[in-house]
Order: sequence, then structure tokens, then C-alpha cells
Amino acid sequence: MPPRVIHDPVALRAACDAARAAGQRVGLVPTMGALHQGHLSLVAALGPLTDLRVLTIFVNPLQFAPTDDLERYPRTLDDDVALCGSAGVDLVFAPSPAAMYPPGFQTHVEVEAVTQPLEGEFRPGHFRGVTTVVNKLFNLVGPCAAAFGTKDYQQWRVLGRMVQDLSMPVEMVGCPIVREADGLALSSRNRYLSPTDRARALGLSRGLRAAEALWAAGERDAARLAAAAHEHVAPSVDRIDYVSAVDPDTLQAPPAGTTPTRLVVLIAAHIGTTRLIDNAELGASSH
Ligand code: PAJ
Repeated sequence: MPPRVIHDPVALRAACDAARAAGQRVGLVPTMGALHQGHLSLVAALGPLTDLRVLTIFVNPLQFAPTDDLERYPRTLDDDVALCGSAGVDLVFAPSPAAMYPPGFQTHVEVEAVTQPLEGEFRPGHFRGVTTVVNKLFNLVGPCAAAFGTKDYQQWRVLGRMVQDLSMPVEMVGCPIVREADGLALSSRNRYLSPTDRARALGLSRGLRAAEALWAAGERDAARLAAAAHEHVAPSVDRIDYVSAVDPDTLQAPPAGTTPTRLVVLIAAHIGTTRLIDNAELGASSH
């Protein structure tokens, strides 16, 4: 069944309020569209937990820097709505920028320490845009279960922190990374890649597999695990922003002299004009 498509924030709130009043549990999947199986896996994860599944599609200008790819970010609403229909989405919310940020808008949500390293260093202001828009979506939808991919590992951690710190009535559901058969993590930005660049992009997942193999062999030194990943990434990409192995909760280096039982290896790298991110958790998974 094709989902209902709503553009008006007030109508979204009314639909979610009505569902809860009828005893339904509401599920939320925030996205920027150009949907793929990674996005749809989040809808599937909410299936058993919720009755009304809302997927939002909004290319959020607040989280793009002037030099980022806001203008060229793929916008494929008709295809997205069709995919939603076959994936169990009941309601698509696709607002305009003006509906989300009317003239005079000036309020932002900022999470502190966990936004600072990694993406925070290379995309200043990015998480402020993410936390602000997701907070708005939470306020419009109301109490719900919300699914996020650990593909954007730091984003998932930042949003979890925001929900906890500000006592938001949201159950966070973290979902594993969906990959192509050859290991490439699904991403809306993959469609920018030429066949040659796509082959080079496999360097990221190869790097993660190298770190996983070393961890399985007993290595617990974060710097050596990151170096093993780096060795595979460096030859296939044009520029590396970071390859880091850090504590999964703080996203900081594990304290000196300790032996970590869990780490996460995170990579951000450029191939031509496309920036890709990927990661792998080592040790017990946190979701
Ligand atoms: P977007 O990049 O469209 O991603 C929407 C959601 O899909 C995020 O939770 C992301 O982690 C998840 N996702 C993307 N690729 C995935 C994959 N291969 N496997 C599993 N999950 C995957 O992330 C954003 O949009 C925005 O920052 C947003 C949260 C919507 C705020 O604007």
C-alpha cells in the first residue's frame, strides 16, 4: 500500500497524536531520502515494536557546511515513496526547508564532548544541525521508538546522548550496517561513485576487516589496530580525514595502560569529490 505523504509539520503531529490516542505505538525513521536497503532495514527493525511507522525525508540544510554537497545531494522523492510503500512505511513526512526553518528561526541544540572528535573535527557545526533537526522531528512526532543506523556511528552516539541528557520520550533503536555483498556500506552518496571509484571505495571495508582480523588474533592496542586499517585504506583513496580506533562510548582513545574489551574503528575518506564513512565495532556490540 502506498504510504500517506505529508508535507505539513502540523499535519504530522496530528497524525501521530491520533495514532497514540487509538493505542498505537509510533515508530520514526529520520532520513535525507535517496533511500536504499540500509534505510529500509531501519523500518524493518521497528516492525515488531510499532504500529504506525513514519519515515521522514528532509535534506537538512543546517547540517551541511557551505562547501558540502547540499545542492547536489540526491533528491528522489517519487522513487522513495514507492520504496516506502513496499517496505511497511505508513506515513512519509517530506517538509520543505521553509516549513522546518521559517523566517526568524534561531534555536539550536548542541551536544558537547561526544561531538568534538572525528566528524566534529572535519565537519564543524554538522552535529549541531543534526541534533537540532532530529529534536524538531522528535517534537513533531511525539513519544516514539526511533531507529538509527550505526553506519553513522558518531551520529548515533550523539543522538543517544541528547535523548538521555534532555529526557526525551524516545526509545532509541540502533541498527547494524547494511553492506553490499562485496563489503561496501550502503550510502546515498555511493551513487556519486563511478565504477572505478566504487572499486576504490572497497578500501574502507577492507581496512575494517584487517582491524577485525587483528583484534580476533588478540591485538588490543588501539593505535596498532587503527594502523592496520589505515594500511588498506591509504592506497585506494585520495585523502583520509581519519582512521581511528576509540572507545565506543566516549569516542576518545582508551585510557593509557588499560586493555580495552571493546573498541570501534572509524574511517572517513575522500574518493574524488565524494566523502565516505564506515566503521566496525570490535568486541561486544553496543546495540
Ligand atoms: P541519512 O544519511 O539519510 O541516513 C538516515 C539513517 O539511515 C541514519 O540513521 C543512517 O545511519 C541510516 N543508514 C544509512 N546507511 C545505512 C546502512 N548502510 N546501514 C544501516 N543504516 C544506514 O543520517 C542522516 O540521514 C541524517 O543525518 C538525519 C539523521 C536524517 C538528520 O538529518
